[in-house]
Amino acid sequence: MGEETAQFDVIVVGSGAAGLTAALALAERLKVLVLAKGSLTGGSTAWAQGGIAAVLDAGDTFEDHIRDTMVAGAGLNRQETVEYVIERAPHAIDRLVQLGVPFNTDEGALHLTREGGHSHRRIVHVDDATGWAVQSALLEAAQANPNITLLPGRAAIDLITGRHEQKYSGSGRIWGVYALDEASGKVEAHVARATVLATGGAGRVYQFSTAPRGATGDGIAMAWRAGARVANMEMMQFHPTCLYNLEVKNFLITEAVRGEGGHLKHPETGERFMAKYDERLELAPRDVVARAIDDQIKRYGLDYVHLDISHQPADFVRAHFPTINEKLLSLGIDMTTEPIPVVPAQHYTCGGVMIDLAGRTDLPGLYAAGECTESGLHGANRLASNSLLECFVFGEAAAADILARWEEFEEPPPVRLWDSSRVEDSDEVVVIKQNWTEIRRFMWNYVGIVRTTKRLERAQHRIRLLDEEITEYYRHFRVGTDLIELRNLLATAELIVRSALKRHESRGLHYTLDYPDTMLVAKDTVLVPR
Ligand code: FAD
Ligand code: SIN
Repeated sequence: MGEETAQFDVIVVGSGAAGLTAALALAERLKVLVLAKGSLTGGSTAWAQGGIAAVLDAGDTFEDHIRDTMVAGAGLNRQETVEYVIERAPHAIDRLVQLGVPFNTDEGALHLTREGGHSHRRIVHVDDATGWAVQSALLEAAQANPNITLLPGRAAIDLITGRHEQKYSGSGRIWGVYALDEASGKVEAHVARATVLATGGAGRVYQFSTAPRGATGDGIAMAWRAGARVANMEMMQFHPTCLYNLEVKNFLITEAVRGEGGHLKHPETGERFMAKYDERLELAPRDVVARAIDDQIKRYGLDYVHLDISHQPADFVRAHFPTINEKLLSLGIDMTTEPIPVVPAQHYTCGGVMIDLAGRTDLPGLYAAGECTESGLHGANRLASNSLLECFVFGEAAAADILARWEEFEEPPPVRLWDSSRVEDSDEVVVIKQNWTEIRRFMWNYVGIVRTTKRLERAQHRIRLLDEEITEYYRHFRVGTDLIELRNLLATAELIVRSALKRHESRGLHYTLDYPDTMLVAKDTVLVPR
C-alpha cells in the first residue's frame, strides 16, 4: 500500500515559472507543497533563451502588443485573455527585477531585443540565457520561504478525485495527487484543499523537440483523465531554428539571432530564401518561417538550412549570444565567422487544459497555469516570448483566486491509498523504450509541420494499437517514471491527433493539405471527456 503524506493547504505540481510564481504568491498566507518530477530545474523554464515580452519602450503600446499576439495567433486567441496578460506584463517584469533577475540594461533602461512577429523591440532578457536567471531567482525565493516545501523527485501519476474518497461522494472535486517517490518507488497520496497544475508542455511527444526530457504532457493527461476539458491540442509550435547536429539533438538557436539581423540561407547556394515566402522575411511569425524551412528542406532534399549572423561584428555576436556561441564553439562552429546549420523542431504546446482568467479548470479545487494550459492567450500560434509571461500572470492569478476564496474550500476527506498489491516488477522494460520511440517517430512523420487527413488517420490507427498494449502493461506492472510518461505521451498524442482531425481548415500552426483554406470564423477545438 502507498502512503498518505502530511497535509498542506495547497499542492503545486511543477517547479518552473508557473509553479513557483503561484507558490510564492500563495505562501503569503498558506502552506504550500511544490512537487517536481526529477530535479527542481528540470522544466523548460530553465532552458528559455530569448526573453520575456512586455511593453516597456516609449514608442510601444499595449494595443500593438495585443495586435501582434492576435496576428500570430491567427485570430483564435481570446481577446479578453490577451488584454489581461499583456496589460500585466510590465508588473510581472517589475516583480522579477525585485526578485533579483539581472536583466540586461542599456544606459540605465532595460535592454529590449526583438523577435519574430513583434512590431517593436519589447523582449527583456538576460543575455541569451533568460530562463536560467528567472528559474534561479524564483527558486532562491521559494527555498527561503518558510511556507513553501519543495519536493523534487516526485512524479505525479494521477489527480486524487471524488472517486478516490474513502466514503465515495462521486463529486468531481480534486483533492491533490498520487505521486511516485522516484527514489523509493513508493506512491504517496498528497492531499490538499486546492491543487495547481504547472507541469509544462508535451514537446517530447515528437521525435525532434527543443524541450527537456520531462515535457511529456503529464498535467494535460492527468487533468483529461480526471474529467477536465482540453482545447486546441493540434496547435503545436515548431521553432524554426534548432541546431542540426547528430549528437546534440535539441539545442535551440534563439529567435533573437534573427531579431539581431541573422539571415536564413540555402546551405549550398547561399541564397536568402525567406523573400519567397513572406515580406517580413526572417522576422515573420514562427509558423511561417518553420514551414518555409521545411519546404526548402523537402524541395531540395537538404538535411538543414543555414542561419547566418557572421556579417555582424564579432564582438556584437559574442556579447549578445554568449551561451550559444560557447556551445557552438564546443561543437566546432564559430558563429562569428560561419553559418549555423538549423532545422525546425517541436518547441511549444499552445493547447492544453482549459482555464479561465483566474486559472480555474473545469474541476472544483483544480487550477492550472503555464504551458500545460489553454488560456486563450496564444490562439493558433504563440508569439515569441509570450509564454514565460503567461506563466507569471496565471501563476499569480490562480494564487489570487485561491487566497480570495480560501474559506469556501472544504477540508479534504480521507482518501484511498495507492494500491500496488496487484502489480509486479516489469519483466520487459524494453516495451517502454520501444513504444516511446514509436510514438515520437509517427508523431513527427504524420502529425508534424504539414499534415494530411490520411497521415493523421494513420497516426490514430497506431495510437489505438498502442493504447491496448500500454494499458495492459500499466495494469500489470509497478509504475516507474518512464511508464508514467509513456502513458501520458500516448494520451497526449491521442488528444493532438483527435484535435487535428476535427479542424477542417488550415490556421496558424495547423496546416493541412486537405483543407488549405482558413474559415471565416475562428473556433477552438474543445475536447470533452466522456
Ligand atoms: P516548465 O518550466 O516546463 O516546468 C514544468 C514543471 O513540471 C517541472 O518542474 C517538471 O519537473 C514538472 N513536472 C512535469 N510533469 C510532472 C509530473 N508528472 N509530476 C511532477 N512534476 C512534474 N518562452 C518564452 O517566453 N521566452 C523564451 O525565451 C523561451 N525560450 C525557450 C527555449 C526553449 C529551449 C524552450 C524549450 C522553451 C522556451 N520558451 C520560451 C517556452 C517557455 O520556456 C515555457 O513555455 C515555460 O518555461 C513553461 O513554464 P512552465 O512553468 O509552464 O513549465
Ligand atoms: C527563442 O529564444 O527563440 C525562444 C523564444 C520563445 O520560445 O518564446
